[in-house]
Amino acid sequence: MERIQKIIAQSGYCSRRKAEELIIAGKVKLNGKIVTRLGTTANGNDVIEVEGFTIENKQEKIYVLLNKPRGVVTSTKDDKHRKVVTDLINIPIRIYPVGRLDYDTTGVLLLTNDGVLTNELLHPSNNIEKVYVAKIKGILTPGHKKTLEAGVVIDGLKTAAAKVKIKKVDKKANTSIVEVTIHEGRNHQIKNMFKALGYEVEKLRRERLLFLTCNGLATGEYRFLSIKEVKRLYSEIKK
Ligand code: URA
Repeated sequence: MERIQKIIAQSGYCSRRKAEELIIAGKVKLNGKIVTRLGTTANGNDVIEVEGFTIENKQEKIYVLLNKPRGVVTSTKDDKHRKVVTDLINIPIRIYPVGRLDYDTTGVLLLTNDGVLTNELLHPSNNIEKVYVAKIKGILTPGHKKTLEAGVVIDGLKTAAAKVKIKKVDKKANTSIVEVTIHEGRNHQIKNMFKALGYEVEKLRRERLLFLTCNGLATGEYRFLSIKEVKRLYSEIKK
């Protein structure tokens, strides 16, 4: 944690003294809220705006790609003392998951202390592509496939257009494996999309987030993103 006038000065926006003046004048926002107290501190996950400009928070940025296992909470701590995703990552820097995968969902999960990237990846207007593979109870009918693609109503709101591929059907076991590509991130979205049509999701895995996959990572393993991958993420959100 560092004082925000120091972070502002480190970004090169202005001197520390000037930053203090701007804070007192109510020109500085921390995570969207005006702060006027000079002792306010922030970390690499926080978004600081000065006179309407988001400044670069130059604390070391870390980007971790985890192949999330089942039975782990996507959080940094859990009231019920269950295992959380950050328990699986052995680094001394605080990072946070970007979005959420359910307790029983596996696959691609990004964690970082880069608040700017996190906000952009989660912002609905950026249409970030996510690919899930679901094992569902029942045989998905061609009609229901089309309905899923066109959008189903969840909590009174229709989901945006999705791509749906039936990968495998097991008539004996009465299950289907279905790949669903979406650009939104509503709570339990995939499970609720199937539920809206009467199907139960038995297993769910996020296969891809933009270009990031878990290729080469065993379940529970993680790796750091390369600089090239981080740059690519930034270029994808500017599209
Ligand atoms: N949709 C869900 O239903 N659950 C997840 O974990 C992710 C997307």
